[in-house]
Amino acid sequence: MNINFNGRIALVTGAGKGIGRCIALKLSKLGAKVFPISRTEADLDSLKVEDSSIETRCLDIGNWNDTRKVIKDIGQVDLLVNNAGISKMKYVLEATEEFIDEHFDVNFKAALNISQIVAKGIISRKGSGAIVNISSITGMLAAPGFPVYCTTKAAMDMLTKSMALEFGPLKIRVNSCNPGGVLTPMSEQVLVSQEQKDAFTGRIPMGRFIEQDEVANTVAFLLSDYASMINGALVPVDGGNMIHISPNPVQ
Ligand SMILES: NC(=O)c1ccc[n+]([C@@H]2O[C@H](COP(=O)([O-])OP(=O)(O)OC[C@H]3O[C@@H](n4cnc5c(N)ncnc54)[C@H](OP(=O)(O)O)[C@@H]3O)[C@@H](O)[C@H]2O)c1
Repeated sequence: MNINFNGRIALVTGAGKGIGRCIALKLSKLGAKVFPISRTEADLDSLKVEDSSIETRCLDIGNWNDTRKVIKDIGQVDLLVNNAGISKMKYVLEATEEFIDEHFDVNFKAALNISQIVAKGIISRKGSGAIVNISSITGMLAAPGFPVYCTTKAAMDMLTKSMALEFGPLKIRVNSCNPGGVLTPMSEQVLVSQEQKDAFTGRIPMGRFIEQDEVANTVAFLLSDYASMINGALVPVDGGNMIHISPNPVQ
């Protein structure tokens, strides 16, 4: 398989660190002109050092109006990856309105906001495009201490299906990529000790964490013409984490 995004313009949110950064670099390597978005300037500066062909935008996508302005200013976008996400711990009995809003603003509302502008652009150009939402296996499996995060991911999965239904006839495919555990600044905050890491990978039949590159490869495939009839799918990249109820299949 030889994926080639030459002539295509891609936007990746949350591309300063972790999975989003890996996706942005991958899409650029495959020929796309990439616009990574993130909210820490230093991360974007180092990204430009790594790949001088990309053009960054520093933005907090949790701000609805600022986001609309920046995305409209970028202009044409053919490929969109809604990757930015936040994940903080609070049980249902502790969750405040502010905490819930913060998660939904970034993990759900921003994805809808940006997708809306990108899709309108593609439709008005009579072009074609693809969107991948970076969801999580926690859109389908509840994680103790993270009910709000999990619920934003379940909402994102339904947004994927709803957009796939509405946008399919307009030549825009929409899919979710649902990773399991990937070591990034986000997950390293939760999985601190080796014991915690071993307990996590013990649930994965493949017996290890998912590499960032393995998520990026799946995203590239879903954005490419090789996935031309995949629309509205929730694609796990989890080494089989979700397929079983055994406590530790690797033992
Ligand atoms: N890591 C995992 O195990 C895992 C598993 C399943 C799904 N996911 C999903 O994969 C995605 C990426 O996760 P990750 O682990 O790579 O996270 P990460 O290491 O925390 O990186 C997230 C990136 O998104 C940026 N970001 C966060 N909020 C933003 C906002 N409001 N506006 C603009 N940029 C923002 C962050 O910028 P700052 O650092 O400057 O805030 C950072 O560059 C998330 O949607 C996450 O839910 C992760």
